[in-house]
Amino acid sequence: MLSCSNSNTTPLSQILSFILTFLSFLPRIWASAWIDYSPDGYATMTHYTLPENFIAACGCTPSSTDHPTAAMNQMAYGSSTSYGPACGQCFNLTLLDAFTANPRFYPNVTKSVVVKVTDLCPLSSSGWCNATTHGPNAGGNYLNFDLAWPSSSIPDDFFPSDEAFYGFTDFGVWNISYQSVSCTNWQGWNQAAALGSVASLGYSACCPDDPTGNPNDTCPSYSDDNGIPPDTQTSGCIFSSSVSLLVVLLAVSLISYLF
Ligand SMILES: *[C@@H]1O[C@H](CO)[C@@H](O)[C@H](O)[C@H]1NC(C)=O
Ligand SMILES: *[C@@H]1O[C@H](CO)[C@@H](O)[C@H](O)[C@H]1NC(C)=O
Ligand SMILES: *[C@@H]1O[C@H](CO)[C@@H](O)[C@H](O)[C@H]1NC(C)=O
Ligand SMILES: *[C@@H]1O[C@H](CO)[C@@H](O)[C@H](O)[C@H]1NC(C)=O
Ligand SMILES: *[C@@H]1O[C@H](CO)[C@@H](O)[C@H](O)[C@H]1NC(C)=O
Repeated sequence: MLSCSNSNTTPLSQILSFILTFLSFLPRIWASAWIDYSPDGYATMTHYTLPENFIAACGCTPSSTDHPTAAMNQMAYGSSTSYGPACGQCFNLTLLDAFTANPRFYPNVTKSVVVKVTDLCPLSSSGWCNATTHGPNAGGNYLNFDLAWPSSSIPDDFFPSDEAFYGFTDFGVWNISYQSVSCTNWQGWNQAAALGSVASLGYSACCPDDPTGNPNDTCPSYSDDNGIPPDTQTSGCIFSSSVSLLVVLLAVSLISYLF
């Protein structure tokens, strides 16, 4: 059994963990931890409640919620907080099947929606946003789109169902195909108020109209730039912030003592 207690750890392992903790604050170390996904492929899609006019992680304008938006799983989104490279990107999402249903449900209609990514779906140890470079989510996918739905911009019957057979209408998770598309295909493209980031947030928000992946029109990773590593902790251990601070201070003094 793995213990969460620090009391029985040896001084050597404590020193090592001090150094590792110190190193983890160097953004470079984490640069390769983000998931590199192809422009088209398969993904899972879930849905979540995003209040109208809510300013989500990227800091896109409140009016962006009048059009289809989604949160992307943290390790593909590219930041553990605030904005990341996925912010503002548009994807055409097409429902394929509800693979968790028994039997698997294949809709008899093709439903697609073009979303703009405005939010971060936090990394967790299980759940649909848990993919890392080390492994996919329970659907075998490295991407999960968490659709803001219900939404005034998406019909309430967007998700096909067969209530007579299954006894419920919401499958919760879908197997989908996705394509990166230009945001000129997004429903909010011609609404100036739905584009861009909240002015009063200044440089703490980033929501390009139509990011292409080029650094001049694509958000950097907030957590990389600010030394905040992706949150990869399990929920099993609580490590208080004052202890973390002490560890950092000890690591800094240790390093300055050594060099
Ligand atoms: C989205 O995908 C659907 C299904 O393949 C397709 O019919 C539709 O034209 C696509 N929309 C865009 C904007 O690419
Ligand atoms: C994500 O969670 C599922 C169970 O829900 C698990 O099978 C899978 O290994 C997890 N993926 C990662 C990368 O931890
Ligand atoms: C999603 O659908 C594709 C195409 O049919 C299939 O290859 C893939 O295995 C499906 N994924 C899941 C999780 O069922
Ligand atoms: C599609 O499937 C639904 C339920 O699965 C059914 O109620 C509906 O009649 C079907 N439509 C067509 C055109 O077959
Ligand atoms: C970004 O740079 C590319 C060339 O690298 C250029 O074609 C494009 O117009 C630039 N975009 C913006 C928004 O400045």
